[in-house]
Amino acid sequence: MATDPTQVTVGIHDLTFATTSLCLTHEELARHTGAPVAKYHHGIGQTAMSIPTEDEDIVTMAADAATPIIERHGGGRIRTILFATETGIDQSKAAGIYVHSLLGLPPHIRVVELKQACYGATAALQLACALVRCDPAQQVLVLASDIARYDVDSPGEATQGAAAAAMLITAAPDLVELHTPSGLFTRDGMDFWRPNYRTTALVDGKASSDAYLTAVDGAWHDYQTRGGLPFEKLRTVCYHQPFTRMAHKAHRRLQQAASITAPLHTTDDAIGPTTTYNQVIGNSYTASMYLALTSLLDSDTDLGGDSIGFFSYGSGSVAEFFTGTITPRYRAHLRTEAHRAHIARRQPIDYDTYRHLHTYSLPTDGTPHEVTRQTQGRYRLSGIRHHQRQYRTAQS
Ligand code: HMG
Repeated sequence: MATDPTQVTVGIHDLTFATTSLCLTHEELARHTGAPVAKYHHGIGQTAMSIPTEDEDIVTMAADAATPIIERHGGGRIRTILFATETGIDQSKAAGIYVHSLLGLPPHIRVVELKQACYGATAALQLACALVRCDPAQQVLVLASDIARYDVDSPGEATQGAAAAAMLITAAPDLVELHTPSGLFTRDGMDFWRPNYRTTALVDGKASSDAYLTAVDGAWHDYQTRGGLPFEKLRTVCYHQPFTRMAHKAHRRLQQAASITAPLHTTDDAIGPTTTYNQVIGNSYTASMYLALTSLLDSDTDLGGDSIGFFSYGSGSVAEFFTGTITPRYRAHLRTEAHRAHIARRQPIDYDTYRHLHTYSLPTDGTPHEVTRQTQGRYRLSGIRHHQRQYRTAQS
């Protein structure tokens, strides 16, 4: 008998992330820009940003993030890998195929790459849920991996960062059961974009923040129109966090949209636990909202049985508001120590090293190029041969 998709509970069974081996503190950045460090620490809510070594990219980070998931659950039930990114390394081949190979996964899997700025991973998540509802025996691996890079000495520079999130989407999940409906909002705008010929994003910072807040209103109203949960039922909301103060602003905007009057400290209390990782990693585009969820789950508060909201935003722009319930057993399945260790192992770099890495680029003329091993991660980009990127385990 066919499964009734409306009766299947689906969601996030496992969730973890990886970031780079290096970081630049905002104290070090402030020494160069001359900005008061309080503007970074309090004004935008960032204290450090992850910086990739020459042999780290979206593939090495995503493979690093996914490895513990495969080690815990095996790869035998995975039928689909969805890789969301806006830091694509090829116009044709999906980055997830390199990850599939590095992880040694079986061949009977479809692998696809998705793009819509920072929203891409949520599109992947919703597609994954739909696939699992149709066949609850299947699992979907969702990967979100990005390197956020702006021009040096631009206002966006302080919001750079890099990370990959990996999620296993299954029936009867251990961490978060995801609900329908979703609230959706799309509006054509040029608040942030990166033409194919540029390595750094173009952005109108103020316009992008306004567009984000407009999308909070739009997605929330659509969510309510479709019979979503009232604001009061939500313990907190995980927002896309281009910088962590944005989540506080967004939550106040959501309270207004929901006609809730709340003192400032209740907003800060609700949002604070979702920002711990992003404030030291920076913007990781597609991965950002899922790092906010990881940070929340890894916090000291017991959230078992609580419903939470998610606001996913991608410039250009597309947004989605949806909700989920944290399972009563989620704490037994967390990876808190590994996440903290991953962040703690990053090596702080000085401003000159940061500038060198910011301008570094791989050759584009097909000449053979070796990249020396620098990463502390499990995988590395070892070079380029015949216009083909070469990946290997870091030990080889
Ligand atoms: P800015 O213009 O240099 O900063 O860059 P500012 O002057 O607006 O100051 C920022 C905040 O710091 C302000 O607070 C100041 O008051 C405060 P606010 O008024 O906003 O509450 N401040 C201080 N606080 C304490 N002590 C001080 C001090 N001085 C100032 N001494 C901007 C800010 C966001 C524009 C910039 O970082 C930027 O361009 N960022 C990139 C774009 C971005 O992140 N946009 C967010 C929404 S769009 C989005 O989320 C999508 C995205 O992730 C891309 C995608 O979807 O793919 C970006």
